[in-house]
Amino acid sequence: MTVDTYRPRRSVLYIPASNDKALAKLGSLACDAVIIDLEDAVPPADKAAARDKVAGILANREKRCEMVVRINPLASEWGADDLRAVAKAEPDGILLPKIGTPRDILEAGDLLDDNSVPDGVKLWAMVETPRALLNIGAIAELGRDPASRLNCFVAGTNDLVKATGVLADRRYLMPWLMQLVLAARAGGLDVIDGVANDFRDLDAFAGECAEGAAMGFDGKSLIHPAQIEPANRAFSPSAEALAEARAIRDAFARPENVGRGVIALDGRMVERLHLTQAEKLLAKAAIIGA
Ligand code: COA
Ligand code: MG
Repeated sequence: MTVDTYRPRRSVLYIPASNDKALAKLGSLACDAVIIDLEDAVPPADKAAARDKVAGILANREKRCEMVVRINPLASEWGADDLRAVAKAEPDGILLPKIGTPRDILEAGDLLDDNSVPDGVKLWAMVETPRALLNIGAIAELGRDPASRLNCFVAGTNDLVKATGVLADRRYLMPWLMQLVLAARAGGLDVIDGVANDFRDLDAFAGECAEGAAMGFDGKSLIHPAQIEPANRAFSPSAEALAEARAIRDAFARPENVGRGVIALDGRMVERLHLTQAEKLLAKAAIIGA
């Protein structure tokens, strides 16, 4: 994602579509995006009613945070009806769970096109199956196709643990998560880290956010409002990073450095690629601050 199209996705909160009390909080939450969930958080008996409710919520939304709806898998008995009903209400994104191949994204895109859904309705994809991880390069490549609506990956770490049998410990998920970040960058997509289930341990959560930011994720998926503030903090440029970015920008602006490709700054080599990075960081901070 280029700087001029940057929109913060530091904190992406799941809200079960069947939880009215949680949904009532929508207007007061400081998260960058919400994912209203029709999938795992909603029991089968409630799925149809939840779907109808989501359309109403979207119709009355304020534009402050991005609104995404996670539908049921297209192959399930609810998926296609979910997609059609949700698309009519034009959310910012529709999140597809349990994808495995590029075809899963293309099929959803075709359904949206066939129903004349505006291009502004993007597709987000859960990466939570072994197949999706094995096909991740080809899936991410769709991000380069202007006709594809694919816009963002979300790591589904709970399902990955379940599907692989790996111990529920980030150490073992690390190679897959790093591969996911790499693929997202190759495709020009945003990528959101998985949830932390233990929502009462905010110290551990802050550590996991810092780790996710260091790994290159754009933000964290959240399950509880208490997680919003630490995620926003961890995925915003730090004061130190901003000070360094300003120093680099100012150094290249000095008359003696204007035409130079590489300079020394406080005993370190700084190249023009660092200037580009610095300008990007400053632009992001300005958008977050605004
Ligand atoms: N979004 C918005 N509000 C939420 C919320 C969420 N995800 N989770 C909790 N809240 C609200 C509660 O409704 C409660 O409101 P109140 O103060 O008006 O009573 C308040 O925050 C405090 O909630 P708390 O009592 O601490 O938690 P809980 O026991 O009600 O709920 C969970 C805990 C985990 C069941 C709940 O946070 C949840 O359902 N999270 C999302 C799960 C999900 O979507 N999973 C699928 C994707 S992984
Ligand atoms: Mg899942």
